[in-house]
Amino acid sequence: MRVFVTGATGYIGRAVVRAVQQAGHAVVGLARSEGAAEALIGAGCEPHRGDIADPAGLAPAVAGADAVIHTAVGMGGGIVGDADHAAVDAMIAGLAGRDGTLILTSGLAVYQGYRVPFVDESTPLDDVVEPQRPRVALEERVLAAGARGVRPVVVRPGHVYGDGSAGIFTRTLLDAARAAGHGVFVGDGYGLFATLHLHDLAAAYVAALTDASASGRYNLVGQAIAMRDVATAMSHGVGGGGSASALTLDEAVERWGPLGRGLLGGPMVSSVRATAELGWSPSGPSLAYELIRGSLRAAA
Ligand SMILES: NC(=O)c1ccc[n+]([C@@H]2O[C@H](COP(=O)([O-])OP(=O)(O)OC[C@H]3O[C@@H](n4cnc5c(N)ncnc54)[C@H](OP(=O)(O)O)[C@@H]3O)[C@@H](O)[C@H]2O)c1
Repeated sequence: MRVFVTGATGYIGRAVVRAVQQAGHAVVGLARSEGAAEALIGAGCEPHRGDIADPAGLAPAVAGADAVIHTAVGMGGGIVGDADHAAVDAMIAGLAGRDGTLILTSGLAVYQGYRVPFVDESTPLDDVVEPQRPRVALEERVLAAGARGVRPVVVRPGHVYGDGSAGIFTRTLLDAARAAGHGVFVGDGYGLFATLHLHDLAAAYVAALTDASASGRYNLVGQAIAMRDVATAMSHGVGGGGSASALTLDEAVERWGPLGRGLLGGPMVSSVRATAELGWSPSGPSLAYELIRGSLRAAA
């Protein structure tokens, strides 16, 4: 297969590119700068110069691909906007009528603010918080393309970590732990952090790409861990011996804005659908291991 990957120079995209290549497929990567194009050539990809903000410029790469893996989503500070919708429209137009695969990267942010014990892909998203509505609408736009001869897949990763880095929530807490010399959590710390190793995420993209029956939304969680335990693990990693302190929600919001609210943690998120339909079985080291003994360990 020939696969067009957007965000191919990003944290998730780089891992996806490697996994797709290892599965024997050719990758064309979107590059918005000369430096990105060179990095892609170095990674064994064919670069396609363009920008998400210029949907027409994406068309030739989409037309030449059997599948698109779209990870450069919501690049305006994590908020999905009109440019994301226009870019996805261009991808759908180029894949329609030929069973082309479109894999959209969404996220568990669609459940932000859900104060229920458990969610899965059938949980109605009527109560989604205002800033996440365009993300949900983007998912629906992709899924509706199923009626136009596109195979639509939406992946919703949890908080990704691995290879010495992590998503914004983990990095924010780790920076706070390094500054304090011990772990930090918000509220009572009993909310859950839905985590996912980068390599397990990449494996899910490959499974969704290569299994022609894969379609629809897939939540992806390797392990759910209490926010309090995230703080304890970070404490061990930064030399704090496992001690942790709590911030109130108000203190967290004052310090980190809306992200602070997300650090309360969330519900248990099911990803059994990915196991049942994609044969996906996450096996990467846990976030706690990476923080204490692995690639995210900060203290000697
Ligand atoms: N990381 C996580 O924990 C996590 C969890 C759930 C969902 N997600 C979602 O996954 C997606 C990717 O996240 P990430 O962590 O891999 O992000 P990232 O490391 O910031 O990578 C972003 C990628 O998109 C490219 N890009 C940015 N703006 C662009 C534009 N206007 N046109 C073309 N390319 C553009 C960047 O290119 P340059 O190299 O040129 O900057 C880079 O390759 C996001 O939608 C994010 O919300 C992430």
